[in-house]
Amino acid sequence: MGSATKGLAVLGSTGSVGRQTLDIVRSYPDDFNVVGLAAGRNHALLKRQIREFRPALASCQGSPSEKAFLGDYGCADCDMENLAVSADVDIVVAATTGDVAVPATFAGIEAGKHIALANKEAVVISGELLTQAARERDVALLPLDSEPNAIWQCLRGEEKPVSRLIITASGGAFRDTPIDKLPDVTHEQALQHPTWRMGAKITVDSATMMNKAFEVIEAHWLFGVPWDDIEVVIHPQSMIHSMVEFVDGSVKAQISPPDMRLPIQYALFYPRRVPNDSVTRFDPVATGALSFERLEPERYPCFGLAIQVARRGGTWAAALCGADDAAVALFLDGKISFMEIPALIAESLRGHRNIEEPSLQDTMDAADAARQRANGTVEV
Ligand SMILES: NC(=O)c1ccc[n+]([C@@H]2O[C@H](COP(=O)([O-])OP(=O)(O)OC[C@H]3O[C@@H](n4cnc5c(N)ncnc54)[C@H](OP(=O)(O)O)[C@@H]3O)[C@@H](O)[C@H]2O)c1
Repeated sequence: MGSATKGLAVLGSTGSVGRQTLDIVRSYPDDFNVVGLAAGRNHALLKRQIREFRPALASCQGSPSEKAFLGDYGCADCDMENLAVSADVDIVVAATTGDVAVPATFAGIEAGKHIALANKEAVVISGELLTQAARERDVALLPLDSEPNAIWQCLRGEEKPVSRLIITASGGAFRDTPIDKLPDVTHEQALQHPTWRMGAKITVDSATMMNKAFEVIEAHWLFGVPWDDIEVVIHPQSMIHSMVEFVDGSVKAQISPPDMRLPIQYALFYPRRVPNDSVTRFDPVATGALSFERLEPERYPCFGLAIQVARRGGTWAAALCGADDAAVALFLDGKISFMEIPALIAESLRGHRNIEEPSLQDTMDAADAARQRANGTVEV
């Protein structure tokens, strides 16, 4: 990618990653042109963003009368897919949750847009198809997620194959909770992540470690590394975002205080590095010891379940994603307990009928069916 002004379509602009993406644009107004913003229901914030960034296109949920404000601001109301393929867009920032932006992400790839990818569920649902489509259209998948972004940074200038990826995990909200107390934890407690401030879904996924399983799946597809060569370790300080071991035994790590603006900026400016005064600098002495622990399988049953399922291929990972989506929503609604999340996912997956070589629609259908089975199980 060149260094001229880049046109951005930000899908999920009102969310945690979307807002931080716009922080980077705010710091570098001459480098980016916000062509389109897509949000869900947070119209108040979307209005403020439209006033500030003046996109030509915008998308949000709601009735025509609820969305009338878009026209008042001179913004054309269009769906996420049309927004992603607009001629002025160079990079689509995929930062919605779940599978809502999967079709728009594929449409963007088909139209030759680079994809700055935070939305890990898109890779879990259709990683093989997504990476294949990007290769065929010669577009870059720029990882925004801090762990794959760290791996990407470590791989820069290196030859493949690597011998191992070591993905770090904070351990989530219940890292230190006695295991016998986990059935009683509340969703308010689950939302207290020890190091990162993120949206609700990913914060609960961090507490169950489903998020880390998703990152393993993401790394498998984005970097073409075999399942057996990807390891996860608990790293409570969240300073090392991942490591890569090379064939000679040397290990590279990417280190920085936990702040999503850094990987977002790296991806948006790639291959250039530019200053960022708002990001706290790593202070080794103040940080003190960096520690690592093995993951306890009984604390995080979602992790083992997810990896086992994803390795089967076909539409299994898509079903996993749909089941997790429903289970987390039910937990946040107070309908199931924390430790019922893995049980409900496993139950939903028992009904899955795999398709070995799926189309994009097959993967979306598998996710949807698993979501419905999980919801149906609880409602009965
Ligand atoms: N947050 C992080 O630090 C982080 C780090 C790495 C990866 N990720 C990944 O990035 C993605 C976004 O995470 P997040 O934490 O930013 O989530 P979030 O704060 O919950 O934001 C989600 C965004 O998606 C929008 N959205 C949700 N449903 C929608 C729908 N049906 N149609 C249109 N827009 C919809 C929301 O709009 P409204 O709010 O307007 O309804 C919001 O803008 C996830 O896949 C997550 O796993 C996040």
